[in-house]
Amino acid sequence: MRTILAPSILAADFKRLGQQVSEAADAGAEYIHIDVMDGMFVPSISFGMPVIKSIRSCTDKVFDVHMMVEEPGRYAGAMKEAGADLLCVHQEACCHLDRTIHQIRELGMKAGVALNPATPVSMLDCILEQVDMVLIMSVNPGFGGQKLLPYTMEKVRQVRDRLRELGKEEQIRIQVDGGVTLGNVDQALEAGANVIVAGSAVFGGDAGANTREFLRKFEEFNG
Ligand code: DX5
Ligand code: ZN
Repeated sequence: MRTILAPSILAADFKRLGQQVSEAADAGAEYIHIDVMDGMFVPSISFGMPVIKSIRSCTDKVFDVHMMVEEPGRYAGAMKEAGADLLCVHQEACCHLDRTIHQIRELGMKAGVALNPATPVSMLDCILEQVDMVLIMSVNPGFGGQKLLPYTMEKVRQVRDRLRELGKEEQIRIQVDGGVTLGNVDQALEAGANVIVAGSAVFGGDAGANTREFLRKFEEFNG
């Protein structure tokens, strides 16, 4: 599978959000990673449907919405309406994960499931084949600009091996989110990730130039 960059707009300059989204998209980012935080599942509150709706016209790239929200199924319909293409929910935040995943797919979105650093990959045994993407958090969710926790790369390897066993490597993507920089992205790629989220490493400087640098790294890695 080709490797996709998903710049996280949490680190963007909100007073010119539309422009920043376009800069990353025009430079070749295929996903736009949108972090929704509810102040319950994680301590912070970020933004929700109106903001997503207002940037929808900036690009036709995939809106990859990361729901750091308790019982995110409550908002699946509204997120679809706002423009989400891929809705990623936390295993830890869903009492009825199977129901939530099916609800997302029935609405016509792709479904992802995310795991916090301390949650083992085995928690996904029963649901793995039902999802389009697994998100391995490489920091504790809630804030941008943290340091990648190296032990989470082993979990990426575990998901990759499991998908190989199931013959689903070409269908189900593996995303890594948190603390990824141009200096350590190789670790995530080597472990088997094929969707790389980067917030500060993209929007902390020239978003277009940083996006192109990441894409160059991917090319180098994939040979
Ligand atoms: C963390 C968010 C991440 C974050 C990534 O709670 O889910 O998507 O914005 O930002 P960086 O790349 O700066 O760690
Ligand atoms: Zn995220």
